[in-house]
Amino acid sequence: MSQNKRSEAESELVATARRVLPGGTFGNVSHELVIAEGRGSHVWDVSGNEYVDYLLGSGPMIVGHAHPEVVDAAHQAILKGTTFFANNADGIRLAAEIVDAVPCAEKVRFVSSGSEADAYAMRLARAYTKRDKILKFEGGYHGMSDYGLMSLAPKRVANSPQPIPDSAGIPRSVRDEVLVAPFNDLEAVANLIREHRDELAGIIVEPFQRLIPPRPGFLEGLRKLTEENRLLLIFDEVVTGFRFAYGGAQQYYGVTPDLCTLGKAIGGGFPLAAITGRADIMAHFDKGAVSEEAFMMQVGTLSGNPVAAAAGLKTLEILKRPGAYERIFKTGRALMEGYTQALKDIRIKAVVLGDAPMFDVVFTEREVRDYRTALGDEATMKRCNLLLRERGILKSDSKYYISTVHTDEDVRFTLDAFASAIRELKPASAA
Ligand SMILES: Cc1ncc(COP(=O)(O)O)c(C=O)c1O
Repeated sequence: MSQNKRSEAESELVATARRVLPGGTFGNVSHELVIAEGRGSHVWDVSGNEYVDYLLGSGPMIVGHAHPEVVDAAHQAILKGTTFFANNADGIRLAAEIVDAVPCAEKVRFVSSGSEADAYAMRLARAYTKRDKILKFEGGYHGMSDYGLMSLAPKRVANSPQPIPDSAGIPRSVRDEVLVAPFNDLEAVANLIREHRDELAGIIVEPFQRLIPPRPGFLEGLRKLTEENRLLLIFDEVVTGFRFAYGGAQQYYGVTPDLCTLGKAIGGGFPLAAITGRADIMAHFDKGAVSEEAFMMQVGTLSGNPVAAAAGLKTLEILKRPGAYERIFKTGRALMEGYTQALKDIRIKAVVLGDAPMFDVVFTEREVRDYRTALGDEATMKRCNLLLRERGILKSDSKYYISTVHTDEDVRFTLDAFASAIRELKPASAA
């Protein structure tokens, strides 16, 4: 798997992309690779280079690319028409499966992306509590809405709870409606709640923030504080849902929020996401269940799309089979342990951060507990990713996703590639 060739066909596509796309990309990964095909745990670019894939479409392909059963389910659905703007059987079955699996889920509303799900979950918290402010954590990813894009990746440091918009074009007024605390800092949260209790609708949190695990007691503490102060607790499980466990991070960590958002895995590689949670809160989506002023308007042309629902349902069926999560955890642990040893052997100071279903190497010497301590040497990270890509490993800029179909051979290949990449990296980051 040598990654050094670029065919004329790919070069032409890259040139066209540069001409017609801002920055030459769809805005996803930072590089210009053009993917032609994915099968199982591998993808191929247009030039024919093969990669072990840890990008996994940024998470949805948790049972691997073009899984024959998922392809067949989607194919059968497509043959019967691709969208109706009305209830369909697989969408209803998928909602029922989510209600069975996810501890907080009593009702489900489908949308098409995680960004939408998060924006609606925050609106739902406001509709339910009749209060406006949302507390989020610095570095927490909650999609691309004006509210989500507050202190996701601030380049300058602001004092809590002042949010920093991550994007141009966000109205100034939105800053006044978002409070920001450091992840894993219960005291900061308690202080903010004390100060803003009458204005706060709820707290939105990734239970496992990017790659940072919650400290013992942190999620339990958030649950207690939100209950005591009658605020809603929203878990953003767009990434962790059906990935850390069949019931998501809330099952894995044993803390049940009021609402959660889901995406990625539940669409089986098609655009589908959801807001789910307590029935009395979800009732705000139901015109017949709440007053006219309390009703929360939400409509989407492709919501609950039958092809996405069929693929998602089949993906969940595969994940539910005995051994699926054991496989993900075994692979992820083998890689994390192998990486840790390789870094130690060559004396590069770095942390293998995360948990088995998703992790990465952060080039830092600090103990990581929140956004700021997780900021490593980005230039070294970028170079490491590039060296890995040249060696046949594809990943996102800041994460390895593990699937049920990565093989022991993939692990061996990846550990060799990593050892070789960091040997080349060493002069730049020598201890
Ligand atoms: C935790 C989290 N929430 C929300 C989103 C947004 O999802 P989408 O890209 O489907 O809009 C993402 C995307 O990666 C995410 O990681």
